Amino acid sequence: MTSYRIAVIVGSLRRESLNRQLVNAVIRLMPSNFSATQVPIGDLPPYNQDDDDKPGEAVQRLKQSISLAHGLLFATPEYNRSIPGVLKNAIDHGSRPYGKSAWAGKPAGVIGISVGAPGSSMAQQHLRNVLAYLDMPTLGQPEVFMQAQPGLFEPSGDVQESSRAFLQSWTDRYVAWVTKHAA
Ligand code: FNR
Repeated sequence: MTSYRIAVIVGSLRRESLNRQLVNAVIRLMPSNFSATQVPIGDLPPYNQDDDDKPGEAVQRLKQSISLAHGLLFATPEYNRSIPGVLKNAIDHGSRPYGKSAWAGKPAGVIGISVGAPGSSMAQQHLRNVLAYLDMPTLGQPEVFMQAQPGLFEPSGDVQESSRAFLQSWTDRYVAWVTKHAA
């Protein structure tokens, strides 16, 4: 069976991030031939085009993680109706130098959770816009707009029973999407 590496990018640096909990719950639903690893983005410097020809260690590590991955999985909070700056910063780093984007052609999935009912939907829509420009085939449906509820995540790290079938269906679609689009 072919093995697939997934690079996971969480748009929150917060210790108790709901988005990290959500993506970890999704990873638990993936088949055994998928291995998913979170790529740190908190130590990236603010993107500066002057440094394109001398990327620091954190930037090189980010680009290598993306390059080695068969697919990307983004979990984003919504900050003021868009994606957090740290996430956009990471995306900009991975996209440069011009013509050497690490993102191009990589299949992607987008999920998110927020405390509000819109469930990070507007942030996800903004992210989709960016990913389209970066030439990343991104799974369209189902959309994952989760609202935080007490007890949503069980102590084991699984999502609670009432949301599990939905997240499993998303994961199955994502797995098929990566399998289809991975080079
Ligand atoms: C938020 N939050 C938020 N929620 C939302 O639904 N729409 C929004 O526009 C915003 N804006 C916003 C801005 C900033 C600066 C912060 C810190 C928060 C609330 C947000 O959804 C909530 O803090 C989530 O818990 C953030 O995700 P993590 O860190 O738990 O993954």
